[in-house]
Amino acid sequence: MEVHATPEAFRAACDAARAGGRRVGLVPTMGALHDGHLALVDHARAAGADYRAVTIFVNPLQFGEGEDFGRYPRTLEADLEACRARGVDCVFTPTPDVMYPEGFATSVRVTGVTERLEGAHRPGHFDGVTTVVAKLFHATGPCVAVFGRKDYQQWRVLARMTRDLGLPVEIVGHPIVRERDGLALSSRNRYLDPDARQRALGLVEGLRAAADAWDAGERDVARLEGLARTPVEARFDRIDYVAAADPESLAPLPERAEQMVLLMAAHLGGTRLIDNLELGVDPRP
Ligand code: PAJ
Repeated sequence: MEVHATPEAFRAACDAARAGGRRVGLVPTMGALHDGHLALVDHARAAGADYRAVTIFVNPLQFGEGEDFGRYPRTLEADLEACRARGVDCVFTPTPDVMYPEGFATSVRVTGVTERLEGAHRPGHFDGVTTVVAKLFHATGPCVAVFGRKDYQQWRVLARMTRDLGLPVEIVGHPIVRERDGLALSSRNRYLDPDARQRALGLVEGLRAAADAWDAGERDVARLEGLARTPVEARFDRIDYVAAADPESLAPLPERAEQMVLLMAAHLGGTRLIDNLELGVDPRP
């Protein structure tokens, strides 16, 4: 497995792979890798990538004032080992000064799909995500890039960016990988003490309640939102949102809908967790 810290060296490795006829698959991450990230690596192979590249970069641009950039877990040695064990071909580990040299002044901004939900609660967050992912795409020149539907809105935003800019990259969204009890895997789960870890299940309970109602034929948006919200309200300290949205545009829905994604973000002490379920599409968590 090759490991590169500069875009030039990383790009040269990916170019050589392509020149050798290989299809390059990219999995961008911020490290602290868990089975959710590694499932994306496996999925890249399933999507036809026979050269798999992982990027590990805690991107300062996408963290807001007072968010967890400083304490975000950094476990590079273990991450590299996990990549090696998974058969990753190349890892890119840039530093902030390489990604954003003195005088850096460009931003990639997607409108519309970024505006509600995460975008409303984390101002500037998606600009940071789209800017870094555009740079990572250019460094890699990937044929296919795999993102987790754990960050559902992010996946839709990046698909929009890719279409709008005509980037020659196939965007693939991978289902959420969960613990046995249903909690979505997240690098931020390691912030949770045992009590908070238990309370975190409020997210899954809410999604299950909505999924059961959906399966029983409920299509009333406010009622589904209410069912999802109740357990989160009971267990979490603070809710940013529990909301149904159009799966593609993330726009609000009319009173009833046949297609919807339920999205939630809530705080347990200093830890913010997110989860979602596309009703009628994703399996009951
Ligand atoms: P990060 O949070 O490290 O996540 C990297 C990728 O792993 C994202 O596509 C995310 O959706 C996916 N992922 C995380 N947990 C998952 C789970 N339980 N199941 C399935 N997929 C999961 O998302 C980012 O980093 C950054 O915003 C990034 C895209 C790298 C840009 O900086």
